[in-house]
Amino acid sequence: MISKKLNDALNGQINAELYSAYLYLSMTAWFSAKGLPGFAIWMRCQAQEELFHATKMFDYVNERGGKVALAAIAKPDSKWDSPLAVLEQVAKHEEHVTRLINDLVNCALDERDHASNIFLQWYVTEQVEEEASVGEVLSKLKMVGKDSAGMFAMDLEMGKRVFTPPVAE
Ligand code: FEO
Repeated sequence: MISKKLNDALNGQINAELYSAYLYLSMTAWFSAKGLPGFAIWMRCQAQEELFHATKMFDYVNERGGKVALAAIAKPDSKWDSPLAVLEQVAKHEEHVTRLINDLVNCALDERDHASNIFLQWYVTEQVEEEASVGEVLSKLKMVGKDSAGMFAMDLEMGKRVFTPPVAE
């Protein structure tokens, strides 16, 4: 069994992960509308990852005899000034999620719930990867600047991303 405090915190995180998926889908739509299909594919994969993060936690709460309580998902932004503005928001959002995951780990430790601590370590590692991959895209975008040939090439590159669900441990 997990404590009520940790159960509530995990439900909050499930909502945060679903919001991330929602936000990234909104960004997917923006890229599609702007004629950047590769960026749209990349962002859709990002949204699929978030859905995976949410459902993995959903399954864990059930597995531990907790109670999943789904709440309303906030409306995401839908307009940005540039691809760079989108990626800057993604980077900022991922830093925010990392802080949320760290808070969750602290909560698991406060509750002396070692199983949850181990479970959450997967998310700790995942956040390192997420921040790194977004940082990479952001650096490339800054290099490309307003060069349309560079943006075209980068769009082709971004479109190669394929979502592969992480292997369940
Ligand atoms: Fe689920 Fe991108 O953090």
